[in-house]
Amino acid sequence: MAQIEAMRAVCFLLAICAVSVLPCSSACPKYCNCSDFGNEYTVYCRGENITAIPRDIPKNTSRLDVCFTPITMLRKGDFVDMPKLKQLNVWWNLNLTMVELGTFDNLPTITSLGLFNNSFTKLPTGLFDSLKNLKTFDAHNSKLETIQHGLFTDHPTLQEIRLPLNNITGLEDAAFGGLPHLTSLYLSSNSLTSLNPSVFEGSPKLKSLDVDDNAITAISKDTFAGTNFELLYLNRNAINTVDVDSFSNLKSLQYVSLDQNNIKDLQDVFKDLPQLQSVSLFDNKLTSIEGVFQNLPKLGTLSLNGNQITKISSTTFDSVPAMTSLSLSNNAIAEVESGAFRNLDSLDSLYIDNNQIPEISLAGLHSLTTLTMNVNNLQRFPTDLEDANQLTYLTLTSNPIKEPLDEQLSVLHRLSSLYLSGITSLKLAGTLNPKALCGLDALEAVWIKGNELVSIPPTTFECTPSISGIWLSNNNLTELSPRLFHGLTELNWLDLTDNQLSHLDPDTFVGLDKLRSLSLIGNNFTNMAHVAPALAHLPILLYQTLDNNPFVYLGRDSFPMPMKHVNSFSVSKTHIRVIEEGTFSADTFPNLTRLELEQDDSLHFLPGNMLDGLDNLTSMLAYGDPFHCDCQLKAFVTWLREQVNPPYVSATCASPPSLKGKDLTDVPLASLTCDCQQVEVPSIDTSGSDNFTREGQTAMLNCKVSGCPEAEFFWTTPTGAMLAVESGFPRMEVLDSGTLVVTDAREEDTGVYTCTAVNYRGKASKEVSLHVGNKQ
Ligand SMILES: *[C@@H]1O[C@H](CO)[C@@H](O)[C@H](O)[C@H]1NC(C)=O
Ligand SMILES: *[C@@H]1O[C@H](CO)[C@@H](O)[C@H](O)[C@H]1NC(C)=O
Ligand SMILES: *[C@@H]1O[C@H](CO)[C@@H](O)[C@H](O)[C@H]1NC(C)=O
Ligand SMILES: *[C@@H]1O[C@H](CO)[C@@H](O)[C@H](O)[C@H]1NC(C)=O
Ligand SMILES: *[C@@H]1O[C@H](CO)[C@@H](O)[C@H](O)[C@H]1NC(C)=O
Ligand SMILES: *[C@@H]1O[C@H](CO)[C@@H](O)[C@H](O)[C@H]1NC(C)=O
Ligand SMILES: *[C@@H]1O[C@H](CO)[C@@H](O)[C@H](O)[C@H]1NC(C)=O
Ligand SMILES: *[C@@H]1O[C@H](CO)[C@@H](O)[C@H](O)[C@H]1NC(C)=O
Ligand SMILES: *[C@@H]1O[C@H](CO)[C@@H](O)[C@H](O)[C@H]1NC(C)=O
Ligand SMILES: *[C@@H]1O[C@H](CO)[C@@H](O)[C@H](O)[C@H]1NC(C)=O
Ligand SMILES: *[C@@H]1O[C@H](CO)[C@@H](O)[C@H](O)[C@H]1NC(C)=O
Repeated sequence: MAQIEAMRAVCFLLAICAVSVLPCSSACPKYCNCSDFGNEYTVYCRGENITAIPRDIPKNTSRLDVCFTPITMLRKGDFVDMPKLKQLNVWWNLNLTMVELGTFDNLPTITSLGLFNNSFTKLPTGLFDSLKNLKTFDAHNSKLETIQHGLFTDHPTLQEIRLPLNNITGLEDAAFGGLPHLTSLYLSSNSLTSLNPSVFEGSPKLKSLDVDDNAITAISKDTFAGTNFELLYLNRNAINTVDVDSFSNLKSLQYVSLDQNNIKDLQDVFKDLPQLQSVSLFDNKLTSIEGVFQNLPKLGTLSLNGNQITKISSTTFDSVPAMTSLSLSNNAIAEVESGAFRNLDSLDSLYIDNNQIPEISLAGLHSLTTLTMNVNNLQRFPTDLEDANQLTYLTLTSNPIKEPLDEQLSVLHRLSSLYLSGITSLKLAGTLNPKALCGLDALEAVWIKGNELVSIPPTTFECTPSISGIWLSNNNLTELSPRLFHGLTELNWLDLTDNQLSHLDPDTFVGLDKLRSLSLIGNNFTNMAHVAPALAHLPILLYQTLDNNPFVYLGRDSFPMPMKHVNSFSVSKTHIRVIEEGTFSADTFPNLTRLELEQDDSLHFLPGNMLDGLDNLTSMLAYGDPFHCDCQLKAFVTWLREQVNPPYVSATCASPPSLKGKDLTDVPLASLTCDCQQVEVPSIDTSGSDNFTREGQTAMLNCKVSGCPEAEFFWTTPTGAMLAVESGFPRMEVLDSGTLVVTDAREEDTGVYTCTAVNYRGKASKEVSLHVGNKQ
């Protein structure tokens, strides 16, 4: 009975299938996408619901992809009746661990087979036997461990085999042998420790081998015997020996890269290779390359960065006349013999940064356009520069060159970028020869950073009127001639970061209509009025230009000319203590949208109407300022609350303890109070100040400030410098008590000093005269 029931059920099922399968066979299989690309019918089956290869794939399919499925095995009979199939990819099926022999038996039309990103450790011998037209096979990123003799061996049509990112440790004899059409073999990122010469036997067209990222330890003279490789990629292995004659039979060899191995010696390895164009050997352990590169008529690119080479002799590059690019940076080269480059007439680029070269002659380098020699031991500028007069890019940064820079560079009429930072002779001179840049008619950008320059002659850039970038950061410039940049109508970038400028003539940047980026960050400006007029006319974004200067005060007088182009203004990382009413107004900053006063260490309060009238302002950032949230901020917070469209303000209270960390905009107005018996304008007492001292002596000028709430105060010197506690000004220090101490007094210190104190109720100031007399 049970048997009959079962048979009935089977019959019933068969009937359903017959009805349902027929119409399906011409449509797209379930869970698949089908599309016609011209005459190519493509079926794409993807996803967890595909538990077996669909049976109803249209007959005319020419490309089939099966991916992201839980299929565990490919079986004989999975792929049938696809007489037009050319390309089959079964990929990213992480549970697919087995392929049965015969799986591809009925697919003679396939030319491209991809079995990548699956999980099989081995493919059966004979798997490809019936694929009589197979040209490319790809099984990258699977878990293959070995390639046995017979899997690929003696296949009549294979051209390209891709097996990167597997775990292949062994290649059996002739694994890739007997492949008359094989041209490219990719085996990178596997676990090979050696290359057995018989592996490639009988594959005469094999041109390209990629075994990067394996663990191969040696190349012997047999490794490539009988092959005709053109391209060899052997990077990032563990190669420590390359035998003499390893490459000598490879008369078609064009490209070899052996980067990041442990090679110490290559004597006679690269010899008489008529087609060799490029050799890369960076990050190895070579100490000498004498005699290594011999008679290589086409060698164009040689990279030897990151070895331990100590010397370039006059014969090292004797017989490599076609060289165009030579990289020797990060070695230990302490000697370059004179004439070392005399036969490198085609050399375009020479990179020899980070060596210990004391002197270098450029004789013979008639085509050189790029020379980088940063961080060497140069004692003098490169010689025979007239031979290298095609140079466009020259970097000599960080060299202890003692030779003064006069007009040596003047023959470099094509030079466009020049790096002269950290040069000893410039440090010793403290200035530039006014003619140093003359003759450099094509100069576009010059870097003269970190040279302790105290001054720059006003005519320095007269010879380079079309220069577009000047980098002068990290020097000791205290003054700039107002003529220095005149006429530089093409100047785009000007970097004066980290100098000691305290005053700029208002005409300093006149005519620099193309200036887009200017930095005066990290200078010694204490008084905004000493720098703002120079910036007022610049049509540039003054964003962050003035950060990190020791300003102490901003007021109406700080911007004597309207900053009419300024959208975004930042004076962050300063010591501003006082911002007076009216500093920022529609007159001084008609176009201001963003104001930054961040990380100021002294800004405790803001005037009530500080932002009034700045209708275009969208944000004021004062993050990191130590605001005292007391009665002094009440007017500002009130103003902010009253605005219909207030700007975004980021500011937090630093005190009192009860409000610490609170956003200014969230503080209840009622908590903004001061503990004063009587709120009053500050008053100043300067009594007891010295009115006379002698040169070299010390004078004390007192400023005792009283009033509640506590006022902020600063001193203004006769030269207009504005100083407060911790201003870091030479010879003049402001004490917490208010006293200004002038040490080592000089005659020019004579004059009127003003102490100014400000709280939210008002301002007081008092003058004190000091006379510095001659030494007795
Ligand atoms: C291939 O077969 C499908 C389904 O039978 C059909 O829709 C499509 O037009 C055919 N395409 C070609 C190029 O023959
Ligand atoms: C078929 O294509 C559609 C639209 O491109 C996509 O949303 C769907 O996931 C695809 N289905 C399969 C099985 O790839
Ligand atoms: C797979 O089948 C389940 C159940 O029939 C269905 O909910 C799910 O949407 C299907 N997934 C895809 C990718 O078609
Ligand atoms: C693969 O198989 C494991 C169990 O062997 C199963 O837990 C997992 O869901 C399967 N993954 C896929 C994608 O089907
Ligand atoms: C292969 O699978 C891994 C996950 O195992 C994935 O990260 C990777 O992107 C896949 N690569 C390709 C080419 O499909
Ligand atoms: C590589 O194969 C070895 C055995 O030959 C095995 O121990 C190791 O786990 C495999 N590594 C990976 C990443 O599959
Ligand atoms: C330049 O300034 C640095 C640091 O500000 C200082 O150490 C150096 O002595 C100065 N050099 C000269 C020549 O003034
Ligand atoms: C003011 O800012 C706008 C918008 O950024 C700009 O287009 C305009 O040129 C600026 N006005 C002046 C005078 O710079
Ligand atoms: C706001 O900017 C516009 C155009 O940038 C300008 O015309 C207007 O005068 C500015 N208004 C104020 C109050 O600054
Ligand atoms: C300087 O101060 C002394 C007293 O400390 C006073 O006698 C003298 O008149 C003052 N000189 C001037 C020029 O004010
Ligand atoms: C500039 O400021 C630095 C640091 O505060 C100081 O050492 C130096 O003496 C100042 N130089 C001048 C010229 O003011």
